[in-house]
Amino acid sequence: MTKPRVLVTSDLPGDAVAVLSRSADVDLHAGVEPLPAAELEERSKACDGIVCLLGDQISDEFLTACKNLQIVANVAVGFDNVDVGAATRHAVLVTNTPGVLDETTADLAFGLLLSSARRIAEADRFIRAEGWRRWQPELMLGTDVHGKTLGLIGYGRIGKAMARRALGFGMTVLYARKVPPAEGGRRDGPGPHHVSLEELLSGSDFVSIHCPLNKETRRLVGERELSMLKPGSILINTSRGAVVDQPALVSALADGRVGAAGLDVFEDEPNVPPELLSMENVVLTPHIGSASIETRSAMARLAVDGLLTAFSGIKPPNAVNPEVWDKFLERTCGRFANRRS
Ligand code: GLV
Repeated sequence: MTKPRVLVTSDLPGDAVAVLSRSADVDLHAGVEPLPAAELEERSKACDGIVCLLGDQISDEFLTACKNLQIVANVAVGFDNVDVGAATRHAVLVTNTPGVLDETTADLAFGLLLSSARRIAEADRFIRAEGWRRWQPELMLGTDVHGKTLGLIGYGRIGKAMARRALGFGMTVLYARKVPPAEGGRRDGPGPHHVSLEELLSGSDFVSIHCPLNKETRRLVGERELSMLKPGSILINTSRGAVVDQPALVSALADGRVGAAGLDVFEDEPNVPPELLSMENVVLTPHIGSASIETRSAMARLAVDGLLTAFSGIKPPNAVNPEVWDKFLERTCGRFANRRS
């Protein structure tokens, strides 16, 4: 029985690559530089599967060129970098990593909220620049978090984890999402309360984004939405940069309509709009929402396990397009079954 050949586009934490290597011929691209698109395509052509990252663009053209590819295992819960419609047409199975990164991502989102509100990153820079002379009543005044209202755009697993943190900090929680909840519910107490996006924007002191990026959410928070925010409110984004209109956000921060922002994601990563780099009221992190050792190791294992499960002839639970399963089986024809050790 032959082993599948699998391209892994980055080093991964934990034992994922070692586990994969026992059952597959692995072509590993290590190091900090991304694989250039042409090389990604060239190396993928020789592979049955790839374990890729959210920065790897898996387009229709790519899938057309890589005729042998049967599975794309994306090491991320978001899969906006994969043209899933095209993958389905090409009978390529796509998997993601749901369920293992919710709490870790909410931890970072809440950290960005605290840091933006209480100016923690700015205060750290202030001390390092040797600017501190004495305790002053007006030094580094931020805004309280407790007692304020947090609006969540998107209320899936990560949004709910964020809501739990906010309630623990004595906040009131509003949320807006595409599918309204079945239950009506009275609008008293700290929530979480379902509201329209407009009510959320005008009624929140903090807004945190937790929806996936897709056709409906691209630039969901644009100039109009930003103008509806309470003056001086704080925006947190740990989902995808393109959910926000970046130039509109830069303008809103520059003229004070948005008081501060905590941003972990950007439209064209790793490029960050240069205007943001000089704004003291913006906390920037390099897409590290899920970056704990435990969580990134679990994501890597989930990606690799899903891929090996599929090649062993069992439909993996983390398939994004499970409808291609029968065609996937026809294509692999059991060639790689029983390869797991
Ligand atoms: C990270 O952004 C992910 O989608 O897992």
